[in-house]
Parts: sequence; structure tokens; C-alpha cells
Amino acid sequence: MLGFLELAVAYRTWRDGNPEDPPSARKKLRNELRKTASKLEEESISLESVMAEFKLSNNTLKRMMSHMSDNMDRGLEKGLPGSTIAMLPSFVPELPDGTERGTYVAMDLGGTNLRVMIMHIEPGEPMRTKQFNTRIPDKAMHGSGSQLFDYIAKALCDFLVEKDLADQDLPVGFTFSYPCNQTGLRSATLLRWTKGVTATGVVGKDVVQMLEEAIKRDGRAKVEIVALINDTVGTMVAAAYESGQCDLGVIIGTGTNASYLEDTKKIVYGMQNADDDYLHSQMIIDTEWGGFGDRNEAEYIITQYDKIIDKRSDHPGVNTFDKLVAGMCMGELVRLVLEKLCTSKVLFNGNASKLLKTPGKFPTKYISEILHDEGGSYTNTRQIMDELGIEDFTFSDMLLLREVCMVVSRRSANLAAAAIACVLNRVSKKNLLTVAIDGSTYKYHPFFDHWVTEKVKELLDPGKEFKIVQTGDGSGKGAALIAAIVFRVKKAEEKRKQDEEKLKLEEEKRKLEEMENIRKEKLMEEERARRYQDLLNYGDERISERSNQLS
Ligand code: BGC
Repeated sequence: MLGFLELAVAYRTWRDGNPEDPPSARKKLRNELRKTASKLEEESISLESVMAEFKLSNNTLKRMMSHMSDNMDRGLEKGLPGSTIAMLPSFVPELPDGTERGTYVAMDLGGTNLRVMIMHIEPGEPMRTKQFNTRIPDKAMHGSGSQLFDYIAKALCDFLVEKDLADQDLPVGFTFSYPCNQTGLRSATLLRWTKGVTATGVVGKDVVQMLEEAIKRDGRAKVEIVALINDTVGTMVAAAYESGQCDLGVIIGTGTNASYLEDTKKIVYGMQNADDDYLHSQMIIDTEWGGFGDRNEAEYIITQYDKIIDKRSDHPGVNTFDKLVAGMCMGELVRLVLEKLCTSKVLFNGNASKLLKTPGKFPTKYISEILHDEGGSYTNTRQIMDELGIEDFTFSDMLLLREVCMVVSRRSANLAAAAIACVLNRVSKKNLLTVAIDGSTYKYHPFFDHWVTEKVKELLDPGKEFKIVQTGDGSGKGAALIAAIVFRVKKAEEKRKQDEEKLKLEEEKRKLEEMENIRKEKLMEEERARRYQDLLNYGDERISERSNQLS
């Protein structure tokens, strides 16, 4: 029905339009609006049938939430072999407490970009950043693992050399936004690539080690990689630093995922091979919810378009939920629906351009741009039609295009909201829950934030309350903060050990003094006894002398 609302807006624009417009132009527009109205009426059934697939009732979303939660429980207990949601431990020891300080390097490898940042952290001050951004070339993303890590190491060393920091042995926090099996803060084995990366020889390998080796091969910089984290973990940590608290860190960008605090005793599978003892009662868990649906357990939310996307993807059958929700596939989904509407002659009179028929030629940013158009102007929409080489389109075509963008992205928002509500319902904390969200798909879409907020409210367990905060650059800040936390915890540990050593020495000194006192006391006692004995002897001698004299 939204199409008719749009039509009403267009009508008002026409009605209140510039009275200076020549009457012929206004007449042309009136005729077009009339045609559009009747066309929409005729076509609404077929359009509705195509779009109905993307509409999800709250009952369906709740069913999905329950399946997701079951998978999360199984993931904690049995990991990826037993569940499609891996629930990976992060080994992050603590959230920031505001006392972090120093200079750190943060590296962020997420979608197609690599960022290297130098972060200066001072308590109570905004972080100061110098950063270097680069797009990873295709040959690194799709070549061999060593090519990819050599590229990353080169970018890091170039930047450090340029900033004259290559020999400072700076601590590095590395945000690596792909699922990794961590056995410690700095040991992480890649479980699988997502988001279209296919670099060979990395799955099953320790990524920290691969990066360290590449830095050594480059040979120009001295750094220490102190932690590897997922971007959702970084988002949580950055939000906790900025807002003082965070219960859930979510990314809705090229991919989607979330992290939250879980009771350590429930993390069975992930803790089996831990490098060291983890002494805290809770740990941040990287859920990897993007894998939900990988064993066909979510068929009821999959459309024919999702199946095509999956089949044509770099990793078929992998990260199903990622493909339904995140920006990597959203544009392509819209394109597939548009293609279908063209084939059924509902759109563009059946004349799709060559580009519209080409996979990958409708980037996700088009959706946000189209939905940003003010009612009536359609400047962005016209520009996109131009870019797609569609010359022959009517006003109703623009409305339908907008409607497709709405419905596809709204499904994504509803699924994301259901996943968020699912995790929030698992958190036992009673007071207001803070959800930190980052990611281009969420940020640049004009309605995503509103849709997600409203849907989470509908799906959350009664009595629970939440607020959403949007974090800027959680991956970068989070990586630097983790490095700072590691440094702080290490310093605290060193101090604890020093204090322990000092206490031990003091105790030994006290014992020695005590023994010395006992020894002295004993000597004095002996001396006293000796003197007493001398006295007695003297007395005895006097008595015997006296008795001798008397006899
Ligand atoms: C990855 C996650 C990541 C998410 C957001 C997904 O494809 O599996 O590890 O957090 O994308 O970047």
C-alpha cells in the first residue's frame, strides 16, 4: 500500500507545485499520475505476491528467535560441530575502566578495506587518531594467504615508517572480522572466510602468527601483536569506554554479527583448549550469528532470491543469516527482485537494461540513496536509473523500485531486530540494557535504526528495557582499547607480582627478626639462669664457708 502513499505525496507536490510551471507540463504530470494510479491498482496483486515472500510476521520472527537461542546454547556446549552459531570465546580479560593510557596501533581488516591507526589514549580525553586506509586489492583478497598478509604487513610498516614509529615496539590490537577459534587473546585459528574473501591457505591457521611472520618478512617495523578481536567485540569495548556500559555489540555492515557477555562456566567447548586459566566470571562471546541457517534450520525465512544469492556466492551454504541481513547481498537481492518484476512486465514495461540483468550491478548503497529521496523529487532514483542505463521508465516504475528497496531492507531490519532481541532475552541483567551498533548498512540507511528499535520493542521479553547507541569506528577504537587493557592488566599483574614479592620479603624479614628475637631472648634467659646459678653458687659457697668457720 505504501506505493499509494507515495503517490499521494507526488500528487501534493504536483498540486502545490510551482504555479509558474507551464500548464502543458502540469497537464503531462497529471496524466502520468493518473496512469500511475491505475497501473498500481492493476499490478498490486502481482507485486504483492512477489513481495509477500519478504514479509515476516512476529510469530515467524519469534520462532526464529527460539531456534537461534537453541543454537546459541548448543554452540556454547558443542561449538561449530554441534551448532550453526559458533559462540566463540574472546579471552578479553576486562572491559575498559577509563584509566587506559598510552600510544597503540590498531589494525582493522573487515570487509574490503584495511585500516592502520595510531591511537593516543588519555583518561578523560577523546582518543587522538592518525589513520591510513586502503582498499585490499583483489589479488590479495582472492590470492594466497601469504599475499594477503604480506599486503597487510606492508601497509602497517609503510605507515609506521612514515610516522617515524617503526622502532618503538608499539603494542598492536588487530581487529579481524572473520570467525576464529581463539584459545587465547593472541592465538586465533580462522574457521572460515566470509564476506567474499577467498585467500587460500589461511583457514585452519593461526592468523596472529601469519601476521607476525609477514611483519618479520617485511623487516622494517618492530611491533608486538597483543590481541586479536572480532569487530563486534571491538564495538562492545569502544561503547563501554564511551558510554560506561555495553551489553551487546552488533555490526550490520558488509556482514552481520554480535557479541555479548556470557557466564564463563557456560562456555564449555570454547574453553577446552584455552592457553591459560581465565579467572573472570564472565567473558565476551563472539556469537557469529551469521552462520544461522547453514544446516537448513531456517528454511521458513528463506526466499527463492536468497537461494539464488547463496548458490552464486563465493561460499555457498556458509553464513546464511549474513546473506539475508547484511549489506554484502542486500543490493543483489533487490536487483534479483527487480529482474523478476521486469520479466513479469510489472516494471519498466518488461525492458530491463543490460546492467540491471548483470549480477552485482546494484550495490547496496543504491538502496539507501533511493530511500533518502524526498517524496516528489526522486533525484537519486533518477540518477541511479541513469547509471543503470534505464532510459524508459515511468513515475510508477520509480515508486515500485522504491517499494522493492523498502521491503527487502525492512526484512533485513526485522531479522536483525529479532536476532538482537534473542540475545537480549538471554541476558539475565535486570536494568536497562545497552546495545551498541556499528556498520555501514545500519548507518547509511535512513530508516534502519527506527525499524530495528521498534521491532526489538515488539519482540523483547516483558519487563526488559534497552537502548541503542551507535558507535563510530568501534573496530578501530576497540582494537586500541584492547591493546591498552592488555597493557593495563599486564602492568597490574606485574604490580601484583611485585607487591606479592615485597610482601614475601617483608614476611621473611619479619620471621628472621622474630627468630633473632627468640635467639636473643634465649641468650638472655640463659644469661639470667647463669647469673642465678652464679648467685646460688655464691650463696652455697658463702654458706659452706660459714659452716667451715663455725666448725
Ligand atoms: C563475520 C563476522 C563479522 C561480521 C561483521 C561476518 O561475515 O563472520 O566475524 O563480525 O561479518 O563484520
